[in-house]
Amino acid sequence: MAVIVFANPKGGSGKTTSATILASVLAEQGVDVGIIDADPLKWITDWASIKPLENVTVYSEVNETNIVDLIDDCSQQHQIVLVDNEGTASQLGSYAIGMADLIIMPLQGSSMDARGGSAITSIIRSQERVLRRPVHSRVLLTRTSAAVASRSLKNVQEQLAKANIKTFTTSIVERAAFRDIFDYGGLLHELDPKSVSNVERAVDNARAFAKEVMNTLKEIADLNSQEKSA
Ligand SMILES: Nc1ncnc2c1ncn2[C@@H]1O[C@H](COP(=O)(O)OP(=O)(O)OP(=O)(O)O)[C@@H](O)[C@H]1O
Ligand SMILES: [Mg+2]
Repeated sequence: MAVIVFANPKGGSGKTTSATILASVLAEQGVDVGIIDADPLKWITDWASIKPLENVTVYSEVNETNIVDLIDDCSQQHQIVLVDNEGTASQLGSYAIGMADLIIMPLQGSSMDARGGSAITSIIRSQERVLRRPVHSRVLLTRTSAAVASRSLKNVQEQLAKANIKTFTTSIVERAAFRDIFDYGGLLHELDPKSVSNVERAVDNARAFAKEVMNTLKEIADLNSQEKSA
């Protein structure tokens, strides 16, 4: 019953990819996942139509007028609801952010993208003022190098730390499997290692990310219950 919104008004930051691999790991672990596909390119809808997916339901008919009801209904029906936001700041996106238990902000490991991140941070701060409650968010660095941490990645990490922006320890590495899943359909661990390179490493990376997300949700739930009892 937790709602996770993937948001970054900067296009191509990795929202759709990270939402899909998170859904894949959770579904593999038996979690009932609902995904609201608010990306106009409908990658997730197409992914789900290739092969039947156990534990994953995708909702594709989403717009500014139904998003709030849709998130409400989905959170009654599924253990985890993921919203893949569109790549521009919009009213729909702000509604989704307002209903999120956790906002994940994917950022590519480049300084240019860090500016996209500061745009979403100011949207979140405004939402906090409107909602009069803290809105929990984490940055997720994406498309990082499997080899050594690059200078630009370090630069982004430093900028984020300076701005007190909470960032997941796990980053999403640039992997063929994270692209090919959209061609082959199915879950990440079901990809054929003969056709896709380094599936096992991709699965390990995705599982580490999912674990950190679930721990973060637990932390947020604890914080919320402490606040209620205070
Ligand atoms: N970890 C990764 N490994 C390999 N390719 C990736 C990875 N993350 C993203 N990509 C590729 O980068 C491009 C942009 O990623 P994605 O579509 O997930 O971003 P987005 O934030 O959803 O974009 P938009 O704002 O257009 O919705 C895609 O072509 C995707 O396949
Ligand atoms: Mg997208």
